[in-house]
Amino acid sequence: MDEAMFRLARQAMARAHAPYSKFRVGAVVRGQSGTLYAGCNVENAAYPEGCCAETAAIAQLVMAGETRLIEAAVIGPGDALVTPCGGCRQRLREFADEATPIHICGPDGLRRSFTLGELLPASFGPDHVRQDRDE
Ligand code: THU
Repeated sequence: MDEAMFRLARQAMARAHAPYSKFRVGAVVRGQSGTLYAGCNVENAAYPEGCCAETAAIAQLVMAGETRLIEAAVIGPGDALVTPCGGCRQRLREFADEATPIHICGPDGLRRSFTLGELLPASFGPDHVRQDRDE
């Protein structure tokens, strides 16, 4: 993870709409082109309708016409590692593979990097549902 990726993640975290949890999260994904796409969590008064930062960043990547991500960074507050939630691990899997690095940051910088395979072992992915597999 380079400095530009970390700074963008921290900026995204500052943009979070998190009036209910007060837990601001930023995420950045790097597309295969090298371009960075950022997102923040966007909560809602109807609580379950909120959206995670990783999901917002992935939407930006897709809107730009990219189909693969080669690394991701997540940043949150506090001392604990703010790793992606289960749903976001699966959403990352759609565009990444088990070797893709996921960098977990705190406000001061990188805390720990995982591979997606470590966060989501034995995962189910796009290859499982390829239509042309046995036709
Ligand atoms: N959150 C994220 O944005 N990403 C994660 O991976 C973990 C949780 C958000 C959702 C909610 O707005 C807040 O953090 C507290 O759960």
